[in-house]
Amino acid sequence: MQRLAIMKTPGKSEEGSRKLLVTIEIWKERYSLKFGADVENKSLFLQTFTYSSIGMALVSLDGQWMKVNQSFCDLIGYTEEELLSRTFQDITHPDDLAADLDYMQQLLEGKIESYQMRKRYVLKQGRVVWVLLNVSMVRDDCGRPLYFLTQVQDITALKRSEGLLLENERKLTEELLRNSEKLTIAGQLAAGIAHEIRNPLTSLKGFLQLIKKGPDYKTEYLDIMEAELDRIEVIVNELLLLAKPTDRKFEEKDVKSMLQNVITLLETQALIHNVQILTAFTPGVTIYCDENQMKQVFINLMKNAIEAMPGGGKLLIQVKKKQELAVIRFIDQGCGIPKEKLKQIGSPFYSTKEDGNGLGLMVSYNIIENHHGKIHIESEIGVGSTFTVSLPIYTPSRLHPAFH
Ligand SMILES: Nc1ncnc2c1ncn2[C@@H]1O[C@H](COP(=O)(O)OP(=O)(O)OP(=O)(O)O)[C@@H](O)[C@H]1O
Ligand SMILES: [Mg+2]
Repeated sequence: MQRLAIMKTPGKSEEGSRKLLVTIEIWKERYSLKFGADVENKSLFLQTFTYSSIGMALVSLDGQWMKVNQSFCDLIGYTEEELLSRTFQDITHPDDLAADLDYMQQLLEGKIESYQMRKRYVLKQGRVVWVLLNVSMVRDDCGRPLYFLTQVQDITALKRSEGLLLENERKLTEELLRNSEKLTIAGQLAAGIAHEIRNPLTSLKGFLQLIKKGPDYKTEYLDIMEAELDRIEVIVNELLLLAKPTDRKFEEKDVKSMLQNVITLLETQALIHNVQILTAFTPGVTIYCDENQMKQVFINLMKNAIEAMPGGGKLLIQVKKKQELAVIRFIDQGCGIPKEKLKQIGSPFYSTKEDGNGLGLMVSYNIIENHHGKIHIESEIGVGSTFTVSLPIYTPSRLHPAFH
């Protein structure tokens, strides 16, 4: 084992500057430097210390800065003089102090030979810099602790890019979940929709056969046919809108008409489950939203309500204006949600259904949050649940500040 020892003792040089006698002990396999001498001027250590591009510092056992190099000062924004009158605790971010002190204690007690951690210093200007910190203990010949040798590298840029990376990863996961949810909804709706389209198709076919038989058909046949074709068109357009991964497009939308379109899609499913959909819509309530996403939320909430009433029941959908908010309520007479389960609602993959994905509400919460709204749940076992969606009302002259 080799060691390099530098010891600091007080003194004066001829020029009056402080004299530095340093003994450093560096326990390293690769270097075989051993000197315990006056290194005031151009000692190898001081040169290394002075010219190192990495911030280096010697810290006393009670945390006082004893010596710092220029790179360190550049990083922290304090002059050497300012630092020497401070302790490392003074400039360590409060959230990182406990971990740092704990490591230092372990070093002092000889439990570890060195440590590395990511921490933050609070710069002179109050800004925060992230650093990679390496600390080792310098001891005397008898192994008694002398001071800490600290090396510091700025990793703020690295932290930032890691943050961006995490953010991108989060967005990607959200997008994937949203897409898989979209496919699931589309898949589940397909059966209902096939049924929904088959009815008007059957009647269209019947009327066409009548017309083919002779010229004396009634013009009202044509009106019915036209209405049936319109219905098919609405359904197909709605399905396409949901299945198509479009870019987010925020615009002013009428809540009532969005809900009506969604009800058209789910009517058959409701009928199959013996669920009656009732509506109480205040007209003219508009919000600033991505129509496609908002419809997804409404579908998710309606589907849940229908699924919560296996024996049938009523689903009341209300739209009200409450000051600056559009309040949309989905009130079912379903099984209800136990109180202790309420906080799990909306967590990814939380489902009590045999074939549930547990994604519907997570995606919905996400979408509503992105629209600066909230979802609130009230529920009573055996009585039913009310899911309330509150969203900022669209006012042409005054767009909700959250959207700017
Ligand atoms: N209206 C409701 N009444 C009772 N329980 C509900 C209601 N809405 C949601 N839940 C409960 O919350 C859980 C999570 O709902 P969520 O919509 O996220 O997933 P899911 O319906 O189980 O599956 P999917 O991803 O297919 O929608 C449900 O499994 C159910 O237990
Ligand atoms: Mg669901």
